[in-house]
Amino acid sequence: MSGKPRIATVSLNSAVDQTVTVRGFAVDTVNRVSEARVDAGGKGVNVASFLAHFGHEVVVTGLLGRDNEALFAQHFEAAGVVDACLRVAGATRTNVKIVDPDNNTVTDLNFPGIRTADADLAAIRERLEVVAAGGIDWLVLAGSLPEGMPVTAYADLIAWAKGRGIRVALDTSGAPFGPAVLAGPDIIKPNIAELRELTSQPLEDHDAVIAAARRLNARGISMVAVSMGAEGAILVTPEAAVLARPPRVPVASTVGAGDAMVAGLVHAATLGLPLAEAAPLATAFSLGALGEIGPRLPETAKIEALARQVGVTELCEPAKSPRTEETQ
Ligand SMILES: Nc1ncnc2c1ncn2[C@@H]1O[C@H](COP(=O)(O)OP(=O)(O)OP(=O)(O)O)[C@@H](O)[C@H]1O
Ligand SMILES: [Mg+2]
Repeated sequence: MSGKPRIATVSLNSAVDQTVTVRGFAVDTVNRVSEARVDAGGKGVNVASFLAHFGHEVVVTGLLGRDNEALFAQHFEAAGVVDACLRVAGATRTNVKIVDPDNNTVTDLNFPGIRTADADLAAIRERLEVVAAGGIDWLVLAGSLPEGMPVTAYADLIAWAKGRGIRVALDTSGAPFGPAVLAGPDIIKPNIAELRELTSQPLEDHDAVIAAARRLNARGISMVAVSMGAEGAILVTPEAAVLARPPRVPVASTVGAGDAMVAGLVHAATLGLPLAEAAPLATAFSLGALGEIGPRLPETAKIEALARQVGVTELCEPAKSPRTEETQ
């Protein structure tokens, strides 16, 4: 390890993303692959690369299978990310994406990840201690948990970070999301389906999304960014709520759109940007990822230009507590 990392990401369930193009893809027959590409992937890996691309000192921790680690090592080297991932027995899983431009379909085959043990989480925490000794401001926890990892793994890591004054951004779903939210991260970026699952509410309109987000603000989560695909995102802080609407853009691939928004939110937070500037910038990170094939961002000038095309609408007045004001 070298340099002084300021942001650490954790990638517990990394994946080799294999994207194959098959025109007229069909089941129960032989399909011909016309193009293929392989990327080191996983949300924690993508967020790390995107933040490094924007000039941050980033260290990635997590688990990689020893059998196919070379792809990741090369990727971290090229992306300028410090590699502090633990190597474990076996191979990092492969996720296959079958893109069919004729039928406009994308079929995903996601393999199970490495089987892990409690000892692996303890080892990650130890590794983070070493990384934190070099000074980190932000910890990014992104992605699913591999089999065998306790559902409280992210909650444990958030408690660890908070005890050291490290701020936390969280992007996960399903079983680990609830316990992690209770541990009080600083930023979360659920998509609308993930927020519905977390809250067990239908969240049919903007007001319902804002109300749900405000309840999360009240738990200490200062930025709740709810992404809604092409509809944009609703970003809610205790002071304000905005809708960030992306322009219509050609989509080269949706890989990494959500991860890019997480990176954009952390980047904006490191700059101390107000919501009205953070929202279009984070959206522009996503738009940048959508314009590239695979988990990549364009040059920073392009991201800044995209941010200027994002519509930002304030959704409600800043939260006020009139009764408190009246009694003062
Ligand atoms: N088709 C699209 N057109 C324009 N913008 C889009 C489109 N899809 C996504 N975005 C932008 O990307 C952001 C994040 O996308 P989305 O809500 O799909 O994230 P996600 O479901 O978390 O994705 P991921 O699968 O990467 O985790 C959106 O808020 C929006 O700004
Ligand atoms: Mg997502």
